[in-house]
Formats: sequence, C-alpha cells, structure tokens
Amino acid sequence: MYIEDFEKAQGHWILARMGKKVLRPGGKELTCKLVDLLNIGEKDDVVEFAPGLGFTANMALKNKPHSYIGIDADKDAIANLRVKFNQKICNFMLANAAETQLPENSKDKVWGEAMLTMHADHRKSEIIKEAHRILKKGGLYAIHELGLTPNNIEEETKAKIQKELALSIKVNARPLTQTEWVTLLENQGFKVVKVELNGMCLLETARVIDDEGLIGALKIGWNIIRNPKAKKRVLEMRNVFKKYKNHMNAIVIVAQKI
Ligand SMILES: C[S@@+](CC[C@H](N)C(=O)[O-])C[C@H]1O[C@@H](n2cnc3c(N)ncnc32)[C@H](O)[C@@H]1O
Repeated sequence: MYIEDFEKAQGHWILARMGKKVLRPGGKELTCKLVDLLNIGEKDDVVEFAPGLGFTANMALKNKPHSYIGIDADKDAIANLRVKFNQKICNFMLANAAETQLPENSKDKVWGEAMLTMHADHRKSEIIKEAHRILKKGGLYAIHELGLTPNNIEEETKAKIQKELALSIKVNARPLTQTEWVTLLENQGFKVVKVELNGMCLLETARVIDDEGLIGALKIGWNIIRNPKAKKRVLEMRNVFKKYKNHMNAIVIVAQKI
C-alpha cells in the first residue's frame, strides 16, 4: 500500500502499510466464525463487499465456491487482489457496494467486514439494501463491524467516541449498538439468525500476535518503530481504542433474506 501523506491517510491503510493483514475489529477469531456460519459450499455463488487485502477472500476460496466476486471501492486494493487471486472463479470489481450492477436474486452468500462502519447510517442502509437485492431468497448476508455497548449507551458518549475515532483514523467511523445494527438489517428485509461478539482489541499485543503470528507481529512492530509518522498515527488510534474499550466491541451478524 502506497501512503502519500501519513498525517492524512486512513488508519487501515497505515496499518496495512506497516504489514498488518487483519484489519477488522474482531480479528481473525471473529472472521473464522463468520466464514463458518456462512457455510460456503461448492454450489454457492458468493460476493464479498470490501475484500481489502483479501484475508477473508483467501479463507472463503478454500471452500471452493461456484463463483466469488469481490467488490471494493479502492483501485489499488482491486489491482492487488486481481494479481493475488488469479483464479477462474474469482472476479474483482472496482465499485461501490451500494451499486454493484449485479443481477437481482442471483447470489447465495454475501458478506462484508469493517466497511459499513465507515459510512453514515443512510449509506449503510443503501449497502445493506444492495446485499438484499442481489441475494436469492433464503440467502445469507454476514457483517463484521464495530459495535457500541451497552445498547442504551448515552448519546453524549456515543458522539464523543465517533468524534475521536474520526479524528484518529481519519474516517468518519460510525459504530452502532447491537440493537441498531440489527434494526438496520431488519429494516431492509433481513431476519437475524446469529450474533457473535468479541472485544475491540485490534491494536493490543495479544490480538496482534493472534491475528498476525509472532513473526508478523514483530515485523509490524519493527516497521512502526522505524517510521515516526506512522508511529504517531498508530499510537493515536490505539489510545482511542483503549480509552473507549468498555464501550466498543466487534460484532458479527448473520442475517437471512426472507
Ligand atoms: C477497513 S478496510 C477493511 C477491509 C477488509 N474487509 C478487512 O476487513 O480486512 C475498509 C475497506 O472497505 C472498502 N470500502 C469502503 N466503503 C466501500 C463501499 N461503499 N464499497 C466498496 N468498498 C468499500 C475500502 O476500499 C477498504 O478496502
């Protein structure tokens, strides 16, 4: 990932530049649950919204789906993914997940991680609506996003978290409570079948080792130490995650088109 300006770049691309491969809030652990719950099989036509670096694509493709389409809005990400997954069943499209141009009622499974949080609520709904449109009846849609807890979190605390997150990761991140995520999905015609939670420990040592392996974690640490501008940004993000640790979590929801 090429970073032009470390002060302005979005947090996830800075982490990717430092060598981090797992960029979703619940880590590898929650992604494994998401992939298991989707139960991708050889007859499935699947779509991933925002594959990013392709971490989940790699896991999903091991299940040999009938077809896989990855849709990301970042042209560098799509260019890298096309090189990385040069397989017949794979197709990567540079597009907004809210407007995929894919035929309706055509897919068995759709998922997206760490991407709805980046959008305002009405944009989240547009993306969820698109997942619903392209899925066959009975098809599954899974999300893995940043959550807020408890469900009755004070509006003031919520606003503070959103503001500090936006300032540190340079993305207008808008995490939601479990009830709010479920409501967004239900409003677009989904029935929630499973919810899984994990701590929001993206930049904590134990989680980094779990996600990236010991060697990977050491390499990331070394890259950060050698790059003071990146270090400043990573520490800013880490501080916000730590400060609001008790109010933030990671959430996976699997929902069905009814
Ligand atoms: C934080 S990264 C997460 C990437 C990957 N899902 C993961 O968990 O590692 C966010 C990704 O979402 C993509 N993205 C954000 N909004 C999108 C949209 N509306 N349509 C397609 N991709 C989007 C970005 O380009 C970026 O690759």
